[in-house]
Amino acid sequence: MANPKRVLILGGTGDATELAARAAEIPGVEVITSLAGRTRQPVVSCKSTRIGGFGGVAGLIHYLREQQIDGLIDATHPFAAQISFNAAAAATEVGIPHLMLIRPAWKRTEGDDWIEVESNAAAAAKLPELAQRIFLTIGRQELAAFAHLGDLWFLMRMIDPPLLNAAVPPGKLLLERGPFSLDDERSLLQQYKIGAIVSKNSGGAATYAKIIAARELRIPVVMVQRPQTPNGKQVDNVENSLVWITNGL
Ligand SMILES: NC(=O)c1ccc[n+]([C@@H]2O[C@H](COP(=O)([O-])OP(=O)(O)OC[C@H]3O[C@@H](n4cnc5c(N)ncnc54)[C@H](OP(=O)(O)O)[C@@H]3O)[C@@H](O)[C@H]2O)c1
Repeated sequence: MANPKRVLILGGTGDATELAARAAEIPGVEVITSLAGRTRQPVVSCKSTRIGGFGGVAGLIHYLREQQIDGLIDATHPFAAQISFNAAAAATEVGIPHLMLIRPAWKRTEGDDWIEVESNAAAAAKLPELAQRIFLTIGRQELAAFAHLGDLWFLMRMIDPPLLNAAVPPGKLLLERGPFSLDDERSLLQQYKIGAIVSKNSGGAATYAKIIAARELRIPVVMVQRPQTPNGKQVDNVENSLVWITNGL
């Protein structure tokens, strides 16, 4: 029997978790998932999971060669740009097939009051003119971009608390992991009298309810646009990633 094909999945998203579990069921395929190690209790769906950075492009090239990886799937979050560019460069250098699984961005629909901006810094600049009480749903890594807004109040949702000594704007931390229901999101916005939301355009269903709740309650959403992606083959769902594994390796 031929050697199994070894697939490295760069994870950190719900799609990556599902993909790893389902890809491991394909006969002749061995899956390794890689996580950055940002959350204290990561969701692990694959019996072979490694955690932590590789050490830049050079480290990833070394890992791909050492582990004899046959194909690389980048299923990281749309805002995790550094690892995506590293993955594209390393796969090219090693000469193995590379796929990006990028879930579709949310699209503005009727009733949405979105202010689309390019960065967290640009989002912060918009806030003083918009509202006094803000729901900040950008995770814990980039809170510093809002820390100078001492006259505003922030409800900040993230999975793990900010690192010690991190610059954090005034307000309240909510430590929770999605998915979030529409009823809960609507109640949260009302309970805290939220006047504006800051969100990344992450796409996907797990965190979309806040966008629907904002539409219903006519609350503006400052929507941070996605960073660029590297050149290369892309799919936008788990199903097509599985087809690529079956046909592409
Ligand atoms: N950014 C977000 O909004 C967001 C939201 C939800 C989940 N996530 C997940 O959280 C992780 C980190 O996101 P980030 O925005 O900090 O990434 P990033 O800025 O693109 O990456 C920074 C560094 O973290 C390491 N890294 C990132 N993802 C990795 C992975 N899956 N396996 C091993 N090392 C990884 C790499 O270190 P080395 O250079 O040392 O290899 C990379 O250079 C990603 O896996 C992503 O899917 C991110």
